[in-house]
Order: sequence, then C-alpha cells, then structure tokens
Amino acid sequence: MKSIHAIVAVASDWAIGRQGDLLCHMPADMRHFKEVTMGHSIVMGRKTFDSFPRRPLPGRQNVVITRDTGWDYPGVTVAHSLEQAIASASTDVVFIIGGAQVYKEALPLVEVLHLTMIHARWASADAYFPALDMDQWQEVDREHHDSDHRNAYEFDFITLKRRNP
Ligand SMILES: NC(=O)c1ccc[n+]([C@@H]2O[C@H](COP(=O)([O-])OP(=O)(O)OC[C@H]3O[C@@H](n4cnc5c(N)ncnc54)[C@H](OP(=O)(O)O)[C@@H]3O)[C@@H](O)[C@H]2O)c1
Repeated sequence: MKSIHAIVAVASDWAIGRQGDLLCHMPADMRHFKEVTMGHSIVMGRKTFDSFPRRPLPGRQNVVITRDTGWDYPGVTVAHSLEQAIASASTDVVFIIGGAQVYKEALPLVEVLHLTMIHARWASADAYFPALDMDQWQEVDREHHDSDHRNAYEFDFITLKRRNP
C-alpha cells in the first residue's frame, strides 16, 4: 500500500506561485525539498515540470501528469490521470509536489503534508494551495528558521499528519 505525502512551500496566505514560477527562491527550502523527496517517486503537473530549470529532478522517479497523449520527455514517467500517476509510482512513499491543480485533486489522498510556511505575502500570486480543514490535521513537527543572507524571509518547516477518522 503506497503512502501519499505532499510537499509544498506556501506564503502566509497559502499562495504557492506566480506566472508559472515559485514566489521566491530560498536555498534552505530547496535543500529541504531535496532531502525529503530524494529516492522517492515525485508526482507533478506538466506545468510544474516545465517550470524546473533542470529536469527531470535527479535521484527521484519523476511522474508527470498531462492530458496530452503525445507528451513525452526523456527520463520521465508520463501519466494521464492522478490515479495513473500514483499507480505508476515505483516507491512506497509517493510525493505530490504540485502545482495548484494537482495539489487540489490529490489532497484527499494525502496522509502527510510537508509544509514550508514562508512568513511573507506576494500581491502578484496567482496559484494557491487548497484550503486545509485544520480539524483533520495534526501538527507533528515544526522547525523555525530566521531569515539570513541567503534566505530572504523567515520560514517554518511544518509536518502535518492527517488525523485518523
Ligand atoms: N510553492 C510550491 O511548493 C510549488 C510547488 C509546485 C508548483 N508550484 C507553482 O504552481 C504553479 C503551477 O501550478 P498549476 O496549477 O498552474 O499547474 P500544475 O498543477 O503544475 O500542472 C497543471 C497541468 O497538469 C496536467 N494535469 C493536471 N491535472 C490533471 C489530470 N487530472 N489529468 C491529466 N492531466 C492533468 C495538465 O497538463 P496539460 O496541460 O499538459 O494537459 C495541466 O495543465 C506554478 O506557479 C509553480 O511554480 C509551487
């Protein structure tokens, strides 16, 4: 049985992107993302895949969801639905890595959410994480980080687990 995790960096208002890109680039969060997802299958929408400067992401099975049956990319597992993407994943723990469309569809399946909460807002944001019903989630870990010369904003690494029904 696969365990579905999601990982996302959100602003204080749950924004996740603007104009097809991230809101900001914070090396500490990039490193965290790499550490958490390394060795696992990662499932993403085609737009998120296209936003990566270097792709596919190394050391992980990249599963890309698209409705375009002609779409292909070397080193990528292509899926045409979320269900197909999860079925094609080769690891027991599968990470949903965005973007907004895919988070929204996958959220009901997610058991563990790795959240980077960035303490800032962007008026230009145009992509958002779906609203979380916090009654359904338990915070099991939180690590605060101040801003520094490489990371422009304060942020928290937060782990949420879905409460058992
Ligand atoms: N902050 C973060 O942690 C984070 C993480 C990831 C992404 N992002 C941001 O999120 C934004 C992108 O999000 P988005 O919602 O625009 O795009 P997305 O979810 O990355 O990709 C959407 C595309 O995925 C495919 N797709 C989605 N659901 C599908 C389904 N059920 N069946 C088949 N194909 C499906 C379609 O591809 P086709 O059009 O090819 O059919 C669709 O156009 C960017 O700004 C990105 O930087 C932020």
